[in-house]
Amino acid sequence: MTARIAIVTTLEMSVPDADEDLLLPLLPEAALVAWDDPAVEWAAFDVAILRSTWNYHDHLDAFRAWARRASSVTRLLNPVPTLEWNTDKRYLADLAAAGFPVVPTTFVAPGEAVPDDAVVGLGAHLVVKPSVGAGSNGARLFDGDPDGAAAHVAALHAQGKVAMLQPYLAEVDTAGETALIYLGGRFSHAARKAAILSRDMSWETGLYADEKVVATTATPAERDLADRIVAALPGLGHPDLAYARIDLLPTPPGPVVLELELTEPSLFLGLDPEAPARAAATFRALLPLP
Ligand SMILES: Nc1ncnc2c1ncn2[C@@H]1O[C@H](COP(=O)(O)OP(=O)(O)O)[C@@H](O)[C@H]1O
Ligand SMILES: [Mg+2]
Repeated sequence: MTARIAIVTTLEMSVPDADEDLLLPLLPEAALVAWDDPAVEWAAFDVAILRSTWNYHDHLDAFRAWARRASSVTRLLNPVPTLEWNTDKRYLADLAAAGFPVVPTTFVAPGEAVPDDAVVGLGAHLVVKPSVGAGSNGARLFDGDPDGAAAHVAALHAQGKVAMLQPYLAEVDTAGETALIYLGGRFSHAARKAAILSRDMSWETGLYADEKVVATTATPAERDLADRIVAALPGLGHPDLAYARIDLLPTPPGPVVLELELTEPSLFLGLDPEAPARAAATFRALLPLP
C-alpha cells in the first residue's frame, strides 16, 4: 500500500519510539519519515502527523521553515500556527490571560536583567529553563542558590534563549506530574510522570531525559482543567488538533499547567490497552475519502 500518512520523526532517532512501535502495525497506510530528511516528498502524503521530532528545539528556525514548506503541500498536524505558538513556552502567558492556572513564571529575555523580586518572590527552590526546550533539556533546579540560578540564566542568554524562572512545585516529588492525553479533541487516557529535576543533577545531553511514566487516573480537578483548556484552544486560534497533551503539576489549591504539549508529545500509548487503536482510528479519520 502506498503510504498516505506520514508519521514524522527525525533522522536523529535510530529506531521508532514506543508510540510508533504500537501505532505503525495498526496503520498500514502510514510510513515513518524524518522532517530533516531532504529526500522526503511531502506532497506524496495526504496527511503528515508530527510525532518524534525531538531534535526540533535545537533547530527551531529550520524546523519552523520546514513545517511551513511541508504544510503548503500536505496537511500537517498539528497545524503550523499551533506549532509556532506551542514551541515557545511564552504561550503560558496567553493561557494565564485566558484565566487558566499556570505555574507562576517570569520570562527573562537576553539583554534583560532578572528582576530582584522574581528571585525573592519565587522562593528558595527555583527552576530555570529555556522557553524553547523539550525533553527537559536545559531545565535545572537551584536550591537556595540564587547565584547559580543567575549563572544559568546567563548561560541560556548566551545561547540566545529566553530564560524562564519558576518556583519548584515540590508536590511533584510525591504526587508526580499528570499528563492528560487527548486524541482528536477527546480525552483518551492519563499518565503520571515522576519528578525529573533534582538538586544534584543537571541534565544536558541526549535527545530527552529518562522519564518514569505509569498509567494513572486523573483526578476530577485535573480532568476538569484539562478539558476546559482543550475546549478553549479553538477560540485561542488552535482548531483541528490531532493530539494534545496537557501536563499538570499539583499544588495545594489545585492543579496548574506546567506545559501544553501540542507539537511532538509522547502519547504514552502503551499505558492504555485501547489507546493504540484509538490513535490509529483518530489519525486514519484525517484522511480524505479515496
Ligand atoms: N516549576 C517546576 N516545578 C517542579 N518541577 C518542574 C518545574 N518545571 C519543570 N519541572 C520538572 O522538569 C521537567 C521538564 O520541564 P518542562 O517544563 O516539562 O519542560 P520540557 O518541555 O523540557 O518537558 C518536568 O517534567 C518536571 O519534572
Ligand atoms: Mg515536559
